[in-house]
Amino acid sequence: NGLTVLVCGGGNAAQVATSMFAARYETYAISLYADEAANWKQAMKGRWHDRVEGMELTLDTGKKVVSMPADMTNDPSISGKADVIILAVPSFAHGQYFEAFYPYIKPGTIVACMPARSGGDILFASKMKEKADSLAFVGFETLPWACRFTEWGKRATILGTKGQILAAVTPESKASHAIATLQGLLGVFPEVLKSPNNLGISLRNPGQVIHPGVMYGRWCSEKWDGQKLSEKPLFYQGVDDFTEGVLLGLSDEVQAVCRKVESLVSGFDLKDACTLHQWYLDSYKGQMADDSTLKLSMNTNSAYTGLTHPMKEVDGGFMPDLKYRYLAEDVPTGLCFTRGLAELLEVPTPTMDKVITFAQEHLGKSFLTDGKMAGANIGETRAPQAVGINSKEEFFKMAKIA
Ligand code: NAI
Repeated sequence: NGLTVLVCGGGNAAQVATSMFAARYETYAISLYADEAANWKQAMKGRWHDRVEGMELTLDTGKKVVSMPADMTNDPSISGKADVIILAVPSFAHGQYFEAFYPYIKPGTIVACMPARSGGDILFASKMKEKADSLAFVGFETLPWACRFTEWGKRATILGTKGQILAAVTPESKASHAIATLQGLLGVFPEVLKSPNNLGISLRNPGQVIHPGVMYGRWCSEKWDGQKLSEKPLFYQGVDDFTEGVLLGLSDEVQAVCRKVESLVSGFDLKDACTLHQWYLDSYKGQMADDSTLKLSMNTNSAYTGLTHPMKEVDGGFMPDLKYRYLAEDVPTGLCFTRGLAELLEVPTPTMDKVITFAQEHLGKSFLTDGKMAGANIGETRAPQAVGINSKEEFFKMAKIA
């Protein structure tokens, strides 16, 4: 059919999405990052002549698909042509794209973030202002694929496709059309399951708990003397009782936020914002030798065997990379959202406060100051306070909840 698709970004996910959709739809790619769009266009050209050869995508079945994207650009006016816009770029960049598209985007456009992380709908509503109601924002819980480019700009590979994936649509009135359209783009797998609302996607975000929680549990001053290590410690298999306590603390505080919202908005459905242990049971059933506790679900999960902490080699030893995306992405666009909402709802968050304080010190940023989400770098986060929301009523209005 005549859909026009625009994919944002230029990394693994954007290259895979562009080459997949271009096989069946008029597909453009946009990157606002440095010279990425021009470099990508150049990369698609043949080695010995200027003919554009397009992209080759290897599917997880081994089949190869060759496709020709319509164009790569850094000009945001292209968004005015799109029926569907896919953000397949790390979440810190979402706001930049929304802002750039605002003057051009047309009513009815579906804008999907894969993954949205937390508070994507709030950021979208604040950047699209009066246009937001005419658009459909779709927050995906994760990326549909595990994927990598193999030759930058030219060849990419899907290593695995999820069986099912949750997505929520704001406003609700546009949900069926948006989900059906995106399912058409993705093909049979993953099956896109409609989640009741984007707040559920935001609070479910497992990355906001797992990544900062495990980093804190291993590298906080109580557990690490600041000296280099001779080996890279295991990330998931290395979760001990102390780290499990941190993870349970974070997960319980997320649950307290959920219960508070439900107590204020009768009938509001946050079923997908489950505990971290439940998330493991739902996502990895059968792959964990012992799933009786959160710690054991992580220690005995075969999907995680051998995965280590992000480390940098230093003088023949290893030091933790405390600026890695586990802190640099998952704190600002994950935990800061939930901590900010908790503040509006007056839910206490002692564990989140410890973890955010630890993360911001290592990142050289200030999000939380004197117990408030009001630090100098708050604008870089998804905390509701970053877009000037200072009461639960304003939050519910922006989230189209009440
Ligand atoms: P990536 O690291 O390949 O993305 C890099 C891209 O981000 C760059 O090409 C550029 O377009 C953009 N970018 C980087 N620095 C920037 C900056 N300073 N300003 C503006 N834009 C900048 O990431 P990937 O692998 O494509 O993943 C995209 C999202 O999907 C991430 O949130 C990732 O965590 C998530 N994800 C990825 C999976 C995978 O298998 N690749 C699996 C599950 C989730």
